[in-house]
Amino acid sequence: MTREEKVRAGEARYISKAQKIPYYDMVFESGKGALLYDTEGNEYIDLLASAGSANTGNGNIEIADAVYEQMKKICQITPAYVYTEKNVELAKKLTELAPGDFEKKVAFGLSGSDSIDGAIKFAKGFTKRNRLISFKGSYHGSTYGAISLSAISINMRKKLDPIPDVVHFSYPTCYMCPYDKNQSECNLECLNEIKEAFTSYLPSDEVAAIFFEPIAGDAGIICPPKKFVQALAALCKEHGILLVSDEIQQGFGRSGKWFAIEHFDVAPDMIVCGKSAGGGLPMGAVIGRREILDSLDPPAHLFTLGGNTTVCVAALKAIEIIERDNLLGKAAENGTYFLDKLKALQPKYDVVGDVRGLGFSIALDFVETQATMKPDRNATLKVCWDCVQNGVFITFLGKGSLRIQPPLVITREQIDRCVEVFESAIKKLVAGEIPDSVLSQIKGW
Ligand SMILES: Cc1ncc(COP(=O)(O)O)c(C=O)c1O
Repeated sequence: MTREEKVRAGEARYISKAQKIPYYDMVFESGKGALLYDTEGNEYIDLLASAGSANTGNGNIEIADAVYEQMKKICQITPAYVYTEKNVELAKKLTELAPGDFEKKVAFGLSGSDSIDGAIKFAKGFTKRNRLISFKGSYHGSTYGAISLSAISINMRKKLDPIPDVVHFSYPTCYMCPYDKNQSECNLECLNEIKEAFTSYLPSDEVAAIFFEPIAGDAGIICPPKKFVQALAALCKEHGILLVSDEIQQGFGRSGKWFAIEHFDVAPDMIVCGKSAGGGLPMGAVIGRREILDSLDPPAHLFTLGGNTTVCVAALKAIEIIERDNLLGKAAENGTYFLDKLKALQPKYDVVGDVRGLGFSIALDFVETQATMKPDRNATLKVCWDCVQNGVFITFLGKGSLRIQPPLVITREQIDRCVEVFESAIKKLVAGEIPDSVLSQIKGW
């Protein structure tokens, strides 16, 4: 048995299959910036950034050193019982980074998912209402509240018993408008779904919060129109409903701003963070209006390791690096550079459908033809497979979209190389040179 085979067999034997979305049979060992290395020493450009949790790059020595120094002193002394400096420092910083000209507070957690549950609790505690709104295709995580808000995979419901009173509405997916409208004809039909519900079956004064991904990540990196997001915020205000922005995937610079909701000039009542928030270590946080975060009494939402000193040190170092190295500017500029290069492939290849994104959250769809725009999942899988053979580590999302979310430190040379590899894969796809047999080697969602 090779080392890789042993790892895979070990995982199959000892780790629950509920924790796996098996894309590739690969075993990674190390990384540097936007590069990854497998156990055989092969190098890959990383377009996944550990599902958005490595914004400051793989193998970041500065974060590693800060963590090491802290752990030598003390790893953890639970902030639930005593006081620690680092979590106060981080909380203050997070309240300053989050949009909104109002006083804010922070509740720390251990992951994006439990912070979503935190936001549910605070929303219910503050409004004294029980119902929640979310969107079809959304992924909010794996805890009970988070699976209940999610609507992307039946496996997140089957055999489980999600919390009641969650209603899901259409996400504004303009490039495949569920109402078949173009932008000039759009009357915000998606939003009208919610308004109609408020008059027919969903009492608005019983709705605590609307949970919204400012870019629908796992549904296929869908960027909503600004007028929808602003109208959604206004609707929330009109009905006393809290607006919660799930920034777990899009936050910490990925979209070119600290939080993706800032693109829409909207200040939500709560922001939920995870993934890159901890500089690569497990951390979740709810940042929200002071009065909302103070609406529950202890121990309604505390975790022994929440706001862990070492993780706070890593998070503060990551924020320092993002600011010092202008990673927001880099995500905005180099993301646009990447997006434009990918858009240039569209007129050349009939199989390339919509190409969209903000900063370093980019998707490229494969379709049967541009005339039908029918998603072609197999084509997407084949292109991914070929890219991986040629040193670009890439996965897919939605109905057939390449997921392009590199660490924010990716260079223009690396972007150029990715585009070269994509184009070569597309050429092979069109020429029928990528065999169907590869489809058994790549699975995904
Ligand atoms: C938008 C969004 N929300 C919530 C989560 C859950 O975060 P975690 O897996 O860190 O609990 C994810 C994870 O993929 C996500 O993408």
